[in-house]
Amino acid sequence: MIFDDLRAIQLRYGFLPKAELEAFSQRSQTPLYQIHSVASFYPHFQLTPPPKADVRVCADMSCHLNGACELRAELEQRFAKSPPTDVLIRDVSCLGRCDHAPAVSINDEIFTSVTAASAEAIARSAILGKEVPETDPESGRVRCASDPYGDGEEYGVVRKLAATKDWEGVLAELKASELRGMGGAGFPTSMKWSLVRKEPSAEKYVVCNADESEPGTIKDRFIMTHLPHLVVEGMIVAGLVTGAKKGILYIRHEYRLQEEILGEELRRCYHEGLLGKNILKSDLTFDLEIFVSPGGYICGEETALIEAIEGKRAEPRNKPPFPVQAGLWQKPTVLNNVETFANVPQILARGVEWYKTQGVSGSRGLKFVGVSGHAAKPGVFEVPMGTPMREVLFKHAGGIRGGRQLKAFAPSGPSSGYLPASMVDVRLDFKALADAGSMLGSGAIVVCDDTTCMLDMALNAVRFYRNESCGKCVPCRVGSQKMTDLLVRWTHGGLAEKQYRADLALIDELCQAMSLTSICGLGQIVPAPVLSVLKYFREEIDAHVLKGVCPSGICFTAAARAGETSRVGIRP
Ligand SMILES: Cc1cc2nc3c(=O)[nH]c(=O)nc-3n(C[C@H](O)[C@H](O)[C@H](O)COP(=O)(O)O)c2cc1C
Ligand code: SF4
Ligand code: FES
Repeated sequence: MIFDDLRAIQLRYGFLPKAELEAFSQRSQTPLYQIHSVASFYPHFQLTPPPKADVRVCADMSCHLNGACELRAELEQRFAKSPPTDVLIRDVSCLGRCDHAPAVSINDEIFTSVTAASAEAIARSAILGKEVPETDPESGRVRCASDPYGDGEEYGVVRKLAATKDWEGVLAELKASELRGMGGAGFPTSMKWSLVRKEPSAEKYVVCNADESEPGTIKDRFIMTHLPHLVVEGMIVAGLVTGAKKGILYIRHEYRLQEEILGEELRRCYHEGLLGKNILKSDLTFDLEIFVSPGGYICGEETALIEAIEGKRAEPRNKPPFPVQAGLWQKPTVLNNVETFANVPQILARGVEWYKTQGVSGSRGLKFVGVSGHAAKPGVFEVPMGTPMREVLFKHAGGIRGGRQLKAFAPSGPSSGYLPASMVDVRLDFKALADAGSMLGSGAIVVCDDTTCMLDMALNAVRFYRNESCGKCVPCRVGSQKMTDLLVRWTHGGLAEKQYRADLALIDELCQAMSLTSICGLGQIVPAPVLSVLKYFREEIDAHVLKGVCPSGICFTAAARAGETSRVGIRP
C-alpha cells in the first residue's frame, strides 16, 4: 500500500525527499505523478524538510473561542527572531481535542489547554533536539449506561448469533428500533445493512468511520476509549449479517491512544476466537483491521474515505452508485459511524423495548454529545435522546464559563449553523433539530457566550470549509473562497449600502449554487453558518458592514488585525 511506503520514508527522513519518491516509483512501478498526487493531498505528508519545531495551532471553532488566535500571535512574537528552519508556526484544522482548547500540535504530538509559555517551552526543547514528550490525556475507563455488559461477559450478541445465525432477526430488530446513523446524515441503519445483504457479490466489506474531524466533534474519541468492545462487536455483527468477511476501522491519525485501545481489543478478539476464521468454532469468518487516516476532514465523507483506503486522493465520488452497491474496491460496503456500530449490540442485547425507553419525549436511545467552546465544564456526555439542549448545556456542561450569558450555540459544529440562546429549549433529536432549521449531526455542541462576535464565528466556520475543500468540484472550491472573501470584507466594515445589498444577493446566489451543485456534503453545507448568522444576528452584521462597529469589540481591534492572516488568510 502506497501509504505504508510513504510513512516509512517519512519516518526515516522526517519528510518525503524527491529522490526517495523517484526510487519508490521505480520500485513499485507506479508513475511518479501518481505518488506525488497522493503525497501532496494529505496534510500528514511533508514534501519539504520540517523545521526542528513544527508548531500548529488549532484555529477552529472551539479553539478560536478559547484564544487560539491570540495564542498564535503571541507565539509568533516569542519566536520572531528564530529562523524558519528552527520553528514554523501555522494553523491546523481541528485536532479532536475541542474539550481541552486551545489545542496545539508540536512535531505531531498534541498538547491541550495550552498557554503561550507552555507551548514555547516545548518548542524550545524541540529546537535543542530533545524529543517532544508524548501526551496521553485520557486515563481510566468510564462506566457508561450504554454498555449492556457491565462487569459481565462481553460479546454476548456475537456469541448468540454465531449459534442461531438469525440474520433476518437482527435486521428486523434494528428496523424496529429505528436506529439512524450517528455520523451526520441519519440514514436508517437497518436499510443500509439490508441493501448490502441483498447484494449477490461474494466480496463485501464493513467500514467503520472514525475519522471524526469536524470542529467540536469528540464523541467518537470517547466511545472508542471507553466502549471499544461495542464498536468492534457492532462491526462483527454487521459482517455476519451482510455476509462481509472483512472489516476496516478507519481512524484519524491524531487518535493514537484510541488506535492502541482498539488494537488491543482486536488482539483480544482474535485470541478468544471472536474474529478470524471459524468464529467461536462455527463456519463463520470475519477479519478486522485498523486503517490509520493520513488526515483531512474530507476523509470523513464516506466515498472519500473509501478512496483513501484504496490508496488514492480522498476525493469524494459522484453518487450513485452508493457504497452499499459499489463501495470499497467497488464491492458492496456497509459504512457506519463509530456510535452507530456501538448502538447495535445495545439494542440486540437489551431489546428494542429497552432502547425505546432510553429516550425522552418520544425519542429513542442514548446519545453521546461533545460540548465545547465557552462551556464551564466542556466534555462528552451520555444523555437520553430528546434531552432539551438547556439541560445538556446547563446541567451536564455546567452552564456558561465565568457565569456569563449564553448568546448562541451550534448544535453540531459548523455544519449545523448557529442558533440563538432563545432556542436553547430545542430537544436533542433528529426531527426536533431539523424542524429548528439545524441538525443533530454528529452531536458536536459548541457554546458561544455573550462576548462572541457572530460574524467572526461565521467567518471561522466558512474558513474551515474553504481550507478543507478537496478542490475536486468548482462550486465548492471557488465558492468557499468567494464566501470567505465576502465575509472578510464585511469584518472590515465601511461598505456603502448599495454594495452591501449586492454582497447579500451574491451570498444568496452562492449559497444556492453551492448547495445544489457541489458533489459532496462539504460544499453543500458551507452556506449553513453564514445563513444562520444572517437569520438570527443580522443587526450585528449590519453594524459591522454599515457602521464599522463590531458590537462585541472583536473585529476592529489591533489584535484582530494582527491575527488577520490566520483569521482569513491563505490556506495554512
Ligand atoms: C465532509 C464530510 C465529513 C464527514 N465526516 C464524518 C466523520 O468524521 N465521521 C462519520 O461517521 N461521518 C462523517 N461524515 C458522514 C459520512 O459521509 C457518512 O454519512 C457516515 O459515516 C455514515 O455512517 P452513519 O450512517 O452511521 O452515520 C462526513 C460527511 C461529510 C460530507
Ligand atoms: S464539494 Fe468540496 S469537498 Fe466535496 S467534492 Fe466538491 S470540492 Fe471536494
Ligand atoms: S481541537 Fe480545536 S476545534 Fe477541535
